Amino acid sequence: MTEQYRIGILNSGGDCPGLNAVIHGVTGAATQLGWGVIGFRDGFEGLLPPGNHTVLDPVKTSGIMKLGGTILGTVNKGHFVSIVGKDNIQRVPSDIIAQAKATIDGLGVSALIVVGGDGSLTTALQLQSEGIPVVGVPKTIDNDLDATAMTFGFDSAVTSVVDALDRLNTTADSHKRVMVLEVMGRHAGWIALHGGIAGGADIILIPEMPFTHAQVAEAVIDRERRGYHSTLVVVAEGAAPVGGSLVGKDIGGAGQIRLKGVSDAVAFEIEERTGKETRSCILGHLQRGGAPTALDRILGIRFGVKAVQLIKERLFGHMVSYQSYSVGSVLIEKAVEKLRVVDPQGEIVTSARSIGISFGTEA
Ligand code: F6P
Repeated sequence: MTEQYRIGILNSGGDCPGLNAVIHGVTGAATQLGWGVIGFRDGFEGLLPPGNHTVLDPVKTSGIMKLGGTILGTVNKGHFVSIVGKDNIQRVPSDIIAQAKATIDGLGVSALIVVGGDGSLTTALQLQSEGIPVVGVPKTIDNDLDATAMTFGFDSAVTSVVDALDRLNTTADSHKRVMVLEVMGRHAGWIALHGGIAGGADIILIPEMPFTHAQVAEAVIDRERRGYHSTLVVVAEGAAPVGGSLVGKDIGGAGQIRLKGVSDAVAFEIEERTGKETRSCILGHLQRGGAPTALDRILGIRFGVKAVQLIKERLFGHMVSYQSYSVGSVLIEKAVEKLRVVDPQGEIVTSARSIGISFGTEA
């Protein structure tokens, strides 16, 4: 089939199960239209001259859907970082954008699909405003983009949390211990909340609901009184006690912090206050790697196909969005405006409370 049009795709920021399904979806849908597809390697860095890329076709992408990570590689640092720290927006230098434009023009690419989270989509917006037609696909295991009800990768991350809790449960029961599992999610508690409920956690601590160590300890003691001798606690990496601060490593100014370690503090306080033997465990990147779930594969494919449709309809500056069981689109500028966080009064939290889950707060 003759190539009528040539599009580019790149993924940027942290990897995420389902990225390869998006690449497969884009390649399949574009090929059916007779278009050519170029995959840029290592995120936006692949746009720097002469352009680190690979030509994609359905034969090349066949079978990649079941693989975790991304066949194109990704980076969350480099020349195109447009957000540094929370609420601190920085623009990509115009000479870097000019270099990217030269690569895109040189390769005859007429539109670019950017698969990324809020930072990468902010960079995409800048490319768009400087004359590169762009379409966005939302990506984050944290599920914290307000403009889409779901992102691929979230279900796989939650599945890893559930698997970890199932394993921790048996050892906690055998030793009559408290086990504290720390999970990802940045400043949103979605992974902890969904993973915790599905994995049978007794206490869930999330960033949106500052806890007290006293309430957490009370929940453990209360369980003991009621005859439960082991307790599973899930703590989101971005959770903090009332008046306390985030735990992690400062990674270079502007408030950037690599969140890690809150579970140790929670475990320490539980053991001190209850006398129960307590252990902590950080799930870390195990929840980002590995094969995507069936749901994430399907979402990835649908997002990829929709991105191609958006280009066909010339809806540049739009991002694929999942709402009410169907895949549509929103303006990227609306999508990066607001993070979606857990509503402490919302139905999911209320349901969790109804089955006895504590959030380490007053009910
Ligand atoms: O945003 C996705 C995420 O996995 C967060 O949940 C986590 O805080 C962060 O990325 C970890 O990033 P890195 O892979 O750079 O350590």
